[in-house]
Amino acid sequence: MNAQASPPASKTQTPIPHFKGNILFGQSAAFVNRCDQLFDGMYAKCGEVNVSSILFKKCFTLLSPDANELVLLNKDAAFSNKLGWDPMLDPLFQNGLMLKDGDDHRYSRRIMNAAFSRDALQSYISLSNQQAQNTLGSWSTKETTLFYPSIKALTLELAMRLFVGVSPGAKADQLNRWFSQLVDASLVFSKANIPYTRFWYGLRARRHLLAYFQEIAPQKRAYPGEDMLSRLTQARDENGQCFTDLEIAENMVFLMMAAHDTTTSAMTSLVYFLAKNAHWQNALREEIQGLGREHLDYDDLPQLSVCGNALKEALRMMPPLAVIPRGTTEPVPYKDFILPSNSLVQICPIFTHYQEEIWTSPKTFDPERFSSQRQEDKRHRYAYVPFGGGAHKCLGLHFAEHQVKIVMFHLLRNYKIEMENESDPVWQKVPIVHPKYGLPVKLKAI
Ligand code: HEM
Repeated sequence: MNAQASPPASKTQTPIPHFKGNILFGQSAAFVNRCDQLFDGMYAKCGEVNVSSILFKKCFTLLSPDANELVLLNKDAAFSNKLGWDPMLDPLFQNGLMLKDGDDHRYSRRIMNAAFSRDALQSYISLSNQQAQNTLGSWSTKETTLFYPSIKALTLELAMRLFVGVSPGAKADQLNRWFSQLVDASLVFSKANIPYTRFWYGLRARRHLLAYFQEIAPQKRAYPGEDMLSRLTQARDENGQCFTDLEIAENMVFLMMAAHDTTTSAMTSLVYFLAKNAHWQNALREEIQGLGREHLDYDDLPQLSVCGNALKEALRMMPPLAVIPRGTTEPVPYKDFILPSNSLVQICPIFTHYQEEIWTSPKTFDPERFSSQRQEDKRHRYAYVPFGGGAHKCLGLHFAEHQVKIVMFHLLRNYKIEMENESDPVWQKVPIVHPKYGLPVKLKAI
């Protein structure tokens, strides 16, 4: 910790503007239903920093790339992930990597890196191709497809195979059920452990999953496969330290959550933008067909640069994590303000991804802005942060990009995608960006 991080109140210190809302609920409804508009209103009225009441908590909202940098780089260790994420994710995802701070975090992250080595990523790709090809090849062209739940089912199937090494069948169905109950429980506001509530089912599902992973960890250690669980049993840091079976189980539960809803969200918003922008859909399809391949190998992935830029643009316009929370462990000076100790703070990718000072026509879907000629994302290192940054930067960002490319490869080779309705879908932006009514699309066989 930095001794200078607790300055005495000075004459230049500016009081943090209060963005008032409903007397009882503060800004909660606006936050849940349309946080992007809420942040625009906050910025127009209060500028870069304000304090408001969100979901019954006093919360400091920071709206600038400089603030993203301050919080994500966390040079003085004054921002805590645990204090930021616990209110939403503990105890369902207790001891997950993203909920850890300091040495505890560094220890786990070093070991966890082994599950994301180049060799590991290569093996996940060959495991994904066949499953994506089989499932996507059988989607119906006769009826309307609700894209979001359909792709969610596929990414869950993929997760079972890549993370746990389980093929579709009774065991995968059981794990899917527990996992869905667990994720479902993280979305409820009340954490009272009352029998038969969503939260109670979620906690029960966590216990089942932990027990299952601990039961099979010794087998995976003795006879490792190519799945992530096997890799976690083998993983060592540079001092030879490895995870206990309980640590492996807790990390698995968290990893599956971190991977699943975010990747599903990214695939859904990308498909939405491609359905709305037929010329971009054609450009991706041409690039994919130009490879002349039946499935993707690791070395093919960098060649899909149009697809890569389209994904970046979808993540700019619809970052799956629209806000990133932290707690302060000491008073933090920021420009003319002091953020008090022990406060909830949030930075807002969904706001900085649209700032006109950074982005040209930010409301237009324009993957070219990420081309080597334009590089709009380089105008400020922390304006574009769909994967966060600093010590907690997403560990699965390459994995996620590969999964999206594999799915797009099999999807766009088979189908032309159109929106079912003229009107725009309603998007819910927190806790993970997704279309409220599932994104109905029409698929036409090619
Ligand atoms: C498009 C998909 C994804 C997006 C947008 C995304 C976004 C993020 C963000 C913003 C963070 C940082 C949160 C913070 O600083 O508090 C994060 C952390 C993390 N993500 Fe992802 N993620 C994605 C996919 C994945 C996948 C596929 C995996 C695993 C296979 C994964 C594993 C993790 C882990 C382990 C962390 C915690 C890292 C740490 O605390 O050290 N993510 N992700």
